[in-house]
Amino acid sequence: MRIAVFDTKRYDRSGLEEAAGKFGYELTFFEDRLNHNTVPLVAGHDVVCPFVNDRLDRAVLEQMAKLDVRHVALRCAGFNGVDIVAAAELGIAVTRVPAYSPEAVAEHVFALLLTLVRKTHRAYQRVREGNFSLDGLVGFNLHGRTFGVIGAGKIGVAAMNIAKGFGCRVLAYDRYPSAERAAQIGCEFVDIDTLLAQSDIISLHAPLTAETHHLINATALAKMKHGSVIINTSRGGLIDTKALIKSLKTGQLAGVGLDVYEYEEGVFFEDLSHQALKDDMLARLTTFPNVMITSHQGFLTDEALAAIAHTVMENIADYQNGQPLVNAVKPGA
Ligand code: NAI
Repeated sequence: MRIAVFDTKRYDRSGLEEAAGKFGYELTFFEDRLNHNTVPLVAGHDVVCPFVNDRLDRAVLEQMAKLDVRHVALRCAGFNGVDIVAAAELGIAVTRVPAYSPEAVAEHVFALLLTLVRKTHRAYQRVREGNFSLDGLVGFNLHGRTFGVIGAGKIGVAAMNIAKGFGCRVLAYDRYPSAERAAQIGCEFVDIDTLLAQSDIISLHAPLTAETHHLINATALAKMKHGSVIINTSRGGLIDTKALIKSLKTGQLAGVGLDVYEYEEGVFFEDLSHQALKDDMLARLTTFPNVMITSHQGFLTDEALAAIAHTVMENIADYQNGQPLVNAVKPGA
């Protein structure tokens, strides 16, 4: 089995190599992302293994089908980069890694959140410059605050569990709320307007779909509490970035933590330190002292990387052996 692995970096190769070795699979690593220009590289492979910012639209998938590649084994949970309908029509199976370590992402939510509310990013810089003043560093307790989650799935639940440990009241908005799940999780399911109005912290964990695109827009932001914090570790497109910047300028938000960004493709995961940042919105976001941006590293723990690599190889083995694809992504998912 020859697998073309796209958008790879040093940190994800060793885990994939180790897992592939156990299955006897051969990997070809490409640093490039899979798209119209790079699709010829899949020739001679049986499977492609893309990551979050590879773009497998209909034209790319058609090229892959012509090159006889019939399996897309995503090494991430989100599948918004693949035209699932086109893949099904072309007879290309798509699998993903639905859960590897929800805790890795949920813990990153709190890395961002605590940095923002206790201003440790500013304290770190100050102390290194010999400035031991506390002016401007007043934060707020998480204890007693309301933590609202949009998308009470695996990561959302892991984040709520951590929030409960801090002593937060926990609210959730999900497309499929149920009293049973609320009792299981220990949260209150509310409608989105209640969540927006009552939460001190809002953490986004719904997938990016046509329905959730710009879920946090100017209207939603206006419904949020003055002085609230928003954290997005899901997908950038959930937030209308223009509206977010406007809100930040008015001082309505106390903090914004972004591990994902609407236009992150081609920027996140890359070292662009030798050139000017071309994205004016991203450049503007980096100027706010109360905005903390990380470049999609929620998944980046030893535990998550090993689990991702293992599930990818299991998905490929299932495909190779004609077994049911338990992690298949199908139209309408
Ligand atoms: P999940 O599938 O377990 O949970 C998603 C939840 O969102 C479900 O409960 C679903 O009912 C809900 N949902 C779907 N559509 C909705 C809507 N329109 N409104 C409200 N709720 C809706 O997914 P999981 O594993 O918790 O992952 C969530 C997202 O996190 C993924 O879609 C992915 O985009 C992102 N992610 C980010 C990572 C990072 O490194 N920053 C790593 C892994 C995932």
